[in-house]
Parts: sequence; C-alpha cells; structure tokens
Amino acid sequence: MIHFEKVSRVYGKAEIRTEALREVSLEVQAASFVTVVGTSGSGKTTLLNIIGGLDTDYTGKVEVASKTLKEMSDKELSQFRNKTVGFVFQHFNLLEHLNALQNVSLPAFFSGEDDKTAIERAEQVLVRVGLKDKLQSRPGQLSGGQKQRVAIARALFSRPRLILADEPTGNLDTRTGEQTIALFESLNSDDGLTVIAVTHEEFLFKNATRTIHMEDGRLVSGGPE
Ligand SMILES: Nc1ncnc2c1ncn2[C@@H]1O[C@H](COP(=O)(O)OP(=O)(O)O)[C@@H](O)[C@H]1O
Ligand SMILES: [Mg+2]
Repeated sequence: MIHFEKVSRVYGKAEIRTEALREVSLEVQAASFVTVVGTSGSGKTTLLNIIGGLDTDYTGKVEVASKTLKEMSDKELSQFRNKTVGFVFQHFNLLEHLNALQNVSLPAFFSGEDDKTAIERAEQVLVRVGLKDKLQSRPGQLSGGQKQRVAIARALFSRPRLILADEPTGNLDTRTGEQTIALFESLNSDDGLTVIAVTHEEFLFKNATRTIHMEDGRLVSGGPE
C-alpha cells in the first residue's frame, strides 16, 4: 500500500534549515493498522503529509496505492487526495455553520456530484460512525467525541482505502479517545481500510498491527517490513 525509499524532507535554508525527515524507508501493507509515535517535532506530521500527497517537496521515492506521487499531475494528485485518502485531524476542522450532513457531503459540492446522492452517502457514513441521531446537528451542538466522528465520517465520504489521522485523540478525554480508537479499529478490521494514526498516547492504540517510533526525522523502530 505504501512504499518509501530514502525519503527526506528539508524545511528552510542555512541557519533555519530543518531536516524533518532523514532518509526514511518504510513499507506498509494494505489493510494494516499502523500507529506513529514520537516526541513533538520528530517528523510525524511531515510523514503523514507526504503519504497523503499534501506535500510533494521531498527527495526519494514514494509510492502509495501503486502510484508514484512525484509523477502525478496536479489534477491526478488532487484526485488522489480526494478519493484514495481520507484525512482526520486533531482539531476536527468542521465548519460551524453547517450541520453534520452538510459538513460530510461538502466535498461533493466541489466535485459537482448530485446533491441527493451526496446527502444519502453522507447519511450512510454518519450512521456507520454511530451518529444516526445527529444528522442535523451543527458542531456547536456536539461533544468533542461526536465532532471527531463527524470528521471521520467526512474522511470516509469519498470511500478511501487509506485513512490518515494526525493526533485524532489529542483533543479528547481518555474515555472518548478510547471510543474513537475503537472506531478506527473497526474501520480497519471490519471494513478493511488501511489506517495510519499519529499519536501521543500510544497506550490507546494497543491493538494496532504495528507501531513506528520516530525520533529526529528518523524511524528508530517499526521500520521497513
Ligand atoms: N512548514 C514548516 N516550516 C519549517 N519547519 C517546519 C515546518 N513544518 C514542520 N517543520 C519542522 O520540521 C520538524 C518536524 O515537524 P513535524 O513533522 O510537524 O513533527 P511532529 O508532527 O512529529 O511534531 C520540526 O522540527 C518542525 O519544526
Ligand atoms: Mg504533528
């Protein structure tokens, strides 16, 4: 599913030069559940952004879902980001004035998909994440855990095969965090999605297939495979 060969990413120049990734090589099999841990600044977000095609300013080789990201046109890359990958963030990134159905179906608005089928599909994914009763609720009417579920539903909307989650439990209490992780586990084991989750709270992800430890831009354990 994911193949990294000596991937490096440098930010800035001269005194402010930061090597965010240093020759990272990695293989991730389809349908696995991988967690990425490491201190702040170790390169976790940079790694996810490259996998998800949000950042192509790296050296080395990256293949995701059998595609070489560097060889894609802008159009292919944006299609890859919209269809192959679903992103989940720490801060949910929902629009406050839209209800759950509208937040989830928003990508369809840009792709020109028919409203009715988009809303039906949004409803399906919201039911999948356990929010059958919250379809019309706006973010301000939802708890943190529910907001994160809306965000996960939005990530699922385009039927991606890969979910990339950057500290998805960072803003949740432990119990809500556990429920959110249980949902990721189920998306992996029941729906066969590949899940890669960055986390500070390694203990929450005890059922992950594999844990990758990062330190100063390098994979210090859990590497290639
Ligand atoms: N846009 C940026 N410009 C300059 N430096 C950055 C940028 N993004 C990240 N970095 C630096 O790259 C390193 C890795 O950052 P990041 O991948 O965000 O780490 P993590 O997610 O593990 O906290 C850090 O030293 C960070 O300061
Ligand atoms: Mg980060």
